[in-house]
Amino acid sequence: MALTPIPHRSSRRPSRVKELQSAISRLSKFTSGDIQPDHDGKPDDPSVHAVQVRTEGHPDMTLTGRPRLIVGMSGSSAPQYGIRLLEALRELQSVEVHLVMSDGAKTSISLETESDLDEILALADVVYDSHNLAAAISSGSFQTIGMAVVPCSMRSLSAIATGNSSDLLSRAADVCLKERRRLVLATRETPLNLIHIRNMETVTLAGGIICPPMPAFYHRPATIDDLISQSVGKILDLFAIEHKLFDRWS
Ligand SMILES: Cc1cc2nc3c(=O)[nH]c(=O)nc-3n(C[C@H](O)[C@H](O)[C@H](O)COP(=O)(O)O)c2cc1C
Repeated sequence: MALTPIPHRSSRRPSRVKELQSAISRLSKFTSGDIQPDHDGKPDDPSVHAVQVRTEGHPDMTLTGRPRLIVGMSGSSAPQYGIRLLEALRELQSVEVHLVMSDGAKTSISLETESDLDEILALADVVYDSHNLAAAISSGSFQTIGMAVVPCSMRSLSAIATGNSSDLLSRAADVCLKERRRLVLATRETPLNLIHIRNMETVTLAGGIICPPMPAFYHRPATIDDLISQSVGKILDLFAIEHKLFDRWS
């Protein structure tokens, strides 16, 4: 009986270059529309993909070498809180920011601020399409230190509380709860009905932290930015991220 020769290991294995090319092409499809142009505005720099390829199989390695924090922005009033959080994280440079913004957030940004959406998105290291449920942050195997949803609408709260993860923001939050990672929701609505309160209770029982942006006055705020920064500072405290956004009570 003729035996089929077993190919030599090296001849079965594509060359390193081919392997990398195919990984880049797979990753480009996977992340298509997700990885932001880099911060000097160059479109889709292939080196970004290459760095990402090198991190495959090494979940603790990140694009920047910093731990990853997911920031979600949903469509409640006061997107200023989310924008200030992104600005602070950009200044601090202590985490790598992975941003997912719902369509509602984009609407509230356009209706309630003068800010330019592209400039806000450019504050993050990686931006995801909120409809892309195949994005990296959809999986618990993608290592992060957790997620802050700022601001968090009652719709997103309810999606998270019920495990109805039909968009990327609620799926990423669901992943944080299942992986027992920190999840902070800056819920924004007033007054609250029983459904809102019960959803907050459910998320709290599941390990999440409800952190509504409540203005404090002990630091003697002089401007609206002082009020916003104090609330954002409280959120950073929950991730043990050092900052000087407000004067602490002492
Ligand atoms: C200008 C504006 C302000 C809103 N403010 C709130 C709010 O404070 N809280 C809230 O829960 N929803 C608010 N909504 C409604 C949400 O945008 C809406 O429920 C949306 O479906 C939320 O979806 P999302 O969580 O996917 O962003 C507001 C909508 C608009 C247009």
